[in-house]
Amino acid sequence: MSGKGKQTLRLDKILSHMGVGSRSELKKMVKQGRIRVDGKPVKDSGVQVNPDVNVIEADGERIEYREMIYLMLHKPPGVVSATEDNRDKTVIDLLSKEDRVFKPFPVGRLDKDTEGLLILTNDGPLAHDLLSPRKHVPKTYEARVLGNVDEEDIERFKAGIQLDDGYETLPAELTVFHREETEEGVFSSISLIIHEGKFHQVKRMFQAVGKRVVYLKRVAMGELELDADLTIGSYRELTAEELDLLRK
Ligand code: URA
Repeated sequence: MSGKGKQTLRLDKILSHMGVGSRSELKKMVKQGRIRVDGKPVKDSGVQVNPDVNVIEADGERIEYREMIYLMLHKPPGVVSATEDNRDKTVIDLLSKEDRVFKPFPVGRLDKDTEGLLILTNDGPLAHDLLSPRKHVPKTYEARVLGNVDEEDIERFKAGIQLDDGYETLPAELTVFHREETEEGVFSSISLIIHEGKFHQVKRMFQAVGKRVVYLKRVAMGELELDADLTIGSYRELTAEELDLLRK
């Protein structure tokens, strides 16, 4: 991961940023000889070091300094896409303490009952770009819908559809994979690509054609796809290639 170029920083700033300890705890650790730079115990927690060049260790463990974090979460249903909530578990509660240190936040929202791809980062400008209505970053969803989603719906979605508040959506690509007749009615399995992110957009688009989404999962954002090996509720860092896809 990248550091801060060829810049020097105070050692205690680096270590507190990386969650090693508070300034006063770090002072104590330095006194006890537990902090080393380039193999030598340091005497002053305020010493200037270059994290790109100097090897920093705390209790024998290498500390890799970085500022940014980029995570792919397979969001489970039942958690909210927020950093804090008085009632519900949040996506941040699913992260390890080590990752929470970076203060990541979710890039956009999935409804509490929606699953799938959620990016978490502390990179404000990237998040802003991905969410900007002007950028029209496509989002791909898979859904199970109560109702017989047919050719007419595909055409209506392609033309753009009016939501309950009068908003006309941009053209969206709807594909039907499968239909199933049950005692409760016909269910359709679909995928849908939308180019904006209005509140409850997918659910409201189907509502506008008299159908109901009963299961919703986001599988891609731009060219970034949800890793099929990522079990529900788990997460990992984005690879450099995936980050490039997002920055495109
Ligand atoms: N559209 C919805 O209706 N819900 C989501 O969570 C995402 C898109």
